[in-house]
This record gives sequence, structure tokens and C-alpha cells, in this order.
Amino acid sequence: MHPMLNIAVKAARRAGQIINRASLDLDLVQVAKKQHNDFVTEVDKAAESAIIETLRTAYPDHAILAEESGESVNESEYQWIIDPLDGTTNFIHGFQYYCVSIALVHKGIVTQAVVYDPTRNDLFTASRGRGAFLNDRRIRVGRRDRLADGLIGTGFPFREKDGLASYCDLFAEMTNACAGLRRPGAAALDLANVAAGRMDGFFEQGLNPWDVAAGALLVTEAGGLIGNYTGDSDFLHEGEIVAGNPKIYAQMVPILSKYTRVNKAA
Ligand code: IPD
Ligand code: CA
Ligand code: CA
Repeated sequence: MHPMLNIAVKAARRAGQIINRASLDLDLVQVAKKQHNDFVTEVDKAAESAIIETLRTAYPDHAILAEESGESVNESEYQWIIDPLDGTTNFIHGFQYYCVSIALVHKGIVTQAVVYDPTRNDLFTASRGRGAFLNDRRIRVGRRDRLADGLIGTGFPFREKDGLASYCDLFAEMTNACAGLRRPGAAALDLANVAAGRMDGFFEQGLNPWDVAAGALLVTEAGGLIGNYTGDSDFLHEGEIVAGNPKIYAQMVPILSKYTRVNKAA
């Protein structure tokens, strides 16, 4: 395993321990609201601190972009992108679908990725050019080639600015086009499940880089494609994302491109 991936795994497992311990007594977890329908707990913060401490000890000069504490000021060609707990709403309710997501970006390209599901002790990892793994097993995207047969994951827009109204039309169109649509509630784990072939595709809008950076590398290293709603590659900072095996991806993009909210002329 690449040494940088190894450190990321160590960090993700530490965060997972904190999350698992707290999940044993959810009544004690303090919840705060960032905005309508957007929550953060002390567990998100403690997990993030543990991750940052682990990464900083090994790589003090690297830059960091983390959901709860923001972007570090130092400049470096390496940047760690961290979501300490993806699926906070699920976690708060004891609905066991959430994960830790850590990615390393080198000169603008994601090169290492970890998505860790502490509820099942499932560790998804990828290094650029070396394939994607679930625990010790190599994973590949699914082999279904018709969207009509595909199980597709999504996320519902839950903040005002994210375009719920147009999403409802998209929801109807995609529901008709595929075999089943699911909204599990943790984008990073959804992408990991696409990489593992458990879902054939995924799409969501209103996402942040920490939701998708690690999952994106898992998908491409598992033989899938990832892009924004128009099928272009600048998904990391645009907030719109579509992922899937190449055949399913190609059938999703024409549907999604009609619903892009990114103004390309701007
Ligand atoms: C959220 C989850 C959710 C997705 C949201 C994300 P958080 O992340 O990934 O599935 O629909 O867009 O913000 O806030 O639980 O880390
Ligand atoms: Ca997230
Ligand atoms: Ca989070």
C-alpha cells in the first residue's frame, strides 16, 4: 500500500472508532444546526480533529480542506480533502449508513482515496493507477449495460439553494428510466457502492469537494466514469455529479444534462 494511503487509512480508522463509540449512546450526542436540514455534531468535530492530527503528524507541510474546520492557509502541492462523517443525519438517527472520507489531491488530481464504513468495518481504498479495493478484495463497477436494468443512487436537494423543484422533474424522469432509485444518505459511501458494483450509477447536485473527492477515485479505479451533469470532468468544485459504469453513465448524462444548474457561460 502506498505510504500516504496507509496514513489515510490509519486516520480513517481512528475517526471510525470515535464514531462507533459515540453511536453506542446517541442520546448523549450534542447536535447543532449549520442551516436548515444541515446538522453537525461534536462527533463530526472530534473525528475530524483525529484525522487532521494523524495526517499532520506524518505530513506537517501538506495543505488540508476539511468540512468542519475549512481550508488550511499553507500552500503545498498536496492537499487532503476530508469529510470526517458523511451522512451525519443518518448517524444522528442511528440509521447505519455513514462513512469517513479522505482523499489526497496532488497538483489538482486525486491520487489516494479512503472511504471507511465503521458500521460494517468496510474499508474502500484506491491509489491512482492501481485499482480500487474493498478490504483486501479488488472491486469493479457493475456489468449491467442498460439503464432500464440499473439500480441508481441519488441524493435529494435539502437546502433551499440546491434546486428541489427542478430535481423533482429529474426524479420523475430518472425513476422511469431505471430499475430502481435509492437515496441512502451518504454521498461518499454511495460512490464507494458504485465502485463495488452494488449500485450501477449515482447522481446528486449541491455537493461539496469533501463529499466526492475520495469516492470519485474509487469509481474510476474500479473501471467507472465520473463527471458533472453535462458529462464534463470538472465535477469536484461544481457540485453536480454523475457516476456509473461506462454504459450506464453514457445513458444518464443525456437525462441529467437537461437539468444542469451550472451556468457554463458564467
Ligand atoms: C451529506 C451526505 C448526503 C448528501 C448531502 C451531503 P454530510 O453529507 O453526503 O447524502 O445528500 O449532500 O452534504 O453533511 O452528512 O457530511
Ligand atoms: Ca458529506
Ligand atoms: Ca460531513
